[in-house]
Amino acid sequence: MRLGILTGGGDAPGLNAVIRAATRVAIRKLKWEVCGVEDGFEGLFDDNMVKPLTLPMVRGLLSRGGTILGTTNRGRLVTKGQLVQEQVAAAAERIKKLGFDGLIVIGGDGSLTIAQALYEHGAPIVGVPKTIDNDLSVTDYTFGFDTALQVAAEAVDNLHTTAESHDRVMLVEVMGRHVGWIALHAGIAGGADVILIPELPFSIEAVARAIAERDEAGAKFSIIVVAEGCRPRNGYEVYQAQGRLGGVAARVAEDLDAYHRQQGIDKDIRVVVLGHLQRGGSPTVFDRVLATRFGAAAAELVAQGQWGHMVALQGTKIITTDIATAIGALKRVSPTGQLVQQARDLGIYFGDES
Ligand code: F6P
Repeated sequence: MRLGILTGGGDAPGLNAVIRAATRVAIRKLKWEVCGVEDGFEGLFDDNMVKPLTLPMVRGLLSRGGTILGTTNRGRLVTKGQLVQEQVAAAAERIKKLGFDGLIVIGGDGSLTIAQALYEHGAPIVGVPKTIDNDLSVTDYTFGFDTALQVAAEAVDNLHTTAESHDRVMLVEVMGRHVGWIALHAGIAGGADVILIPELPFSIEAVARAIAERDEAGAKFSIIVVAEGCRPRNGYEVYQAQGRLGGVAARVAEDLDAYHRQQGIDKDIRVVVLGHLQRGGSPTVFDRVLATRFGAAAAELVAQGQWGHMVALQGTKIITTDIATAIGALKRVSPTGQLVQQARDLGIYFGDES
């Protein structure tokens, strides 16, 4: 029996740990042959991009960031955000031709949507959820999230000393797409003063008030964690070229500075954008364990022929769910949930205060 493995979409620390675990279980326990497909779904269309994965080849992968298979969030299967059905059918045909009796797709919302379409075209697909954004509804955590938090929280820690020395306002922009999980967790872990998240549209006046309150209390610096997908009340998300989110912290800084000037307040403001640093480097121990458990469980799903299903974490258990349920429903931060409430109780502002 022959198993294919591919990684789709943006990379996330822990992908290699999934590849390693699935390969080890498939070869050692199931006695299957394993192949890696390079560069996501694109690799399915080229025989030269499908290579055998052996036990020696997955040795030493646990701590390695990125993906040895390569990945892409572009390709012929999706155009302008829409699935191209003829190409999906062609990819399903190629999966047959490559002799795969099972294919593990490790990906986020976009790649799992393609995985579901391939399954509907008869392909033997099993899914593994992946994203640093932690925005997939069926799983409590995705691997990569904890590593991204580690980077973001460390940045917030480091900014404290320089912000304090200069009595500055420091804004640190973190990733997360349309949800605020990274910002909220990193902000709480790093002791941020203000956290701006997509789920709680902010006003510049409220942000300025939070800073003024700290100044009056004697703490003349403020750290603001800004989720890339956040937006002002009645305002919009900020995009860079090629339709990618990014740059909102600079916009907030400008608006805050303009507001301060209007009010006769003289305050230095600086912006740091963490960007892809949050996706790079070695996965944390939490992510290594979660990725390993996902990989091993995915190989078991293959053995059971549970096509169209994926693995997920609920509480402390790895569970199985159908891919169709997992896609399309973003897991957002609840504006009235416990985590936000506790942050407020601690004195963290969200810029939405009236
Ligand atoms: O979904 C993961 C993510 O890192 C988001 O947080 C971010 O908005 C996006 O991918 C960046 O994508 P790219 O790597 O294409 O710039």
